[in-house]
Amino acid sequence: MEHYIVKGGNPLSGEVEIAGAKNAALGILAASVMTSETVTLENVPDVSDIRAILKAIRAIGGHVEKIDRHCYRINGSGITADAVVDNEYVRKIRGSYYLIGSLLGRHRHAAVALPGGCNIGLRPIDQHIKGFRALGADVRLAPPGMVIAEAEVLRGAHIYMDVVSVGATINIMMAATMAEGVTIIENAAKEPHVVDTANFLNSMGASIKGAGTDVIRIKGVQKLHGTNYSIIPDQIEAGTFMFAAAATRGDVVIKNVIPKHLESLTAKLMEMGCQIHESDDEVRVVATRRLGPTNAKTLPYPGFPTDMQPQITVLLGLSRGVSIITESIFENRFKYVDELTKMGAHIQVEGNTAIINGVEKYTGANLSSPDLRAGAALVIAALAAEGISEVYDIHYIERGYEDFPEKLRRLGAEIETIDSELEKRKFQFKVG
Ligand code: UD1
Repeated sequence: MEHYIVKGGNPLSGEVEIAGAKNAALGILAASVMTSETVTLENVPDVSDIRAILKAIRAIGGHVEKIDRHCYRINGSGITADAVVDNEYVRKIRGSYYLIGSLLGRHRHAAVALPGGCNIGLRPIDQHIKGFRALGADVRLAPPGMVIAEAEVLRGAHIYMDVVSVGATINIMMAATMAEGVTIIENAAKEPHVVDTANFLNSMGASIKGAGTDVIRIKGVQKLHGTNYSIIPDQIEAGTFMFAAAATRGDVVIKNVIPKHLESLTAKLMEMGCQIHESDDEVRVVATRRLGPTNAKTLPYPGFPTDMQPQITVLLGLSRGVSIITESIFENRFKYVDELTKMGAHIQVEGNTAIINGVEKYTGANLSSPDLRAGAALVIAALAAEGISEVYDIHYIERGYEDFPEKLRRLGAEIETIDSELEKRKFQFKVG
């Protein structure tokens, strides 16, 4: 089985270029089929979640032309009102639910398979459904795991979100873009990808104001048009490299970023004793010695992102003293801690809190990625560890990180993707 093999101990050093934001691209790709005109998107990351939504768009009649690795021309004129979004790709990714908002807005009808693995009950998308219903849609679940949303007329509404949800904010915003009248979303998510999707829709002729604050006001329009748009850099990929630099006591310049989006991360790294140098679109992270402890709680943006929780825990596991991490967005996001324990970490999980007693070093081990961000965090642990580690279930990591091992190798890491005993022996021989 394909997996990574890593020899730890090299401080990362050099420059790394960050790709476009996966989570912004998922929303924007879904929104790109809300017009029958052509949309050109640049800075689209080449990761498996994005390939999956592109296949889903093709499967319902959308035309997807690849201009180069990161640039696509999309034309949704072939997507009809009776399109059914259901194939093996759609069910694998959570972001496919954005096609509900986009198709409901455009055609007043959407039939979309629920995100993979979610044996649902309405709860995980209850806020999305609440918003669509407020706009006048009839939303029902149909076997096997389909959401059907339809409306004679979509009408603007005043919607108060009970929880701050990135997905629900983007989804409702898309449908409301083509509703009659004004929609106000209160307690909206403020994440950079909410703002990027709103900017993209505005470039197609939508009228969305307030994205990035907790009140978004959308004046519905009848028609959207084609556009050219470049997706923002990936805040979480950038953060992952920042924490990898810190954990290996390295010196890395992270290029093509928006430093403002990284503020909660830079603040924590500085508290721990890292040096951070920011310029227009770069952040340099320097860690020359063992870092100190800190506490963090995951929160909606601009708070500390839940998608960086495993990475900070890995780093604190190697820092002096006791640190506490509280996960307030998702239950059960500490599954990777058992893997870190195999490497010698001292971390005790109680409910949604991890109490971390920093150790001097981790020791290489065989590790299994439980999900995307935790997988990346285990790679960071392996890069910082003494000896060789093997990281399995890398398909999770490939969902959201473009060329992860290649980028790390360019920073001096010893990491390879291998598939056989022979390749493993070659790697061991090479690293000595
Ligand atoms: C998005 C990101 C994910 C990130 C998360 C939080 C994408 C494709 N994924 O996920 O990487 O970890 O934001 O920043 O962009 N909730 C409900 N009902 C709903 C919707 C959400 O109760 O209808 C709850 C969730 O269970 C969770 C919280 O709200 O506890 C936040 O979830 P949400 O912001 O919706 O996450 P996603 O959009 O799924």
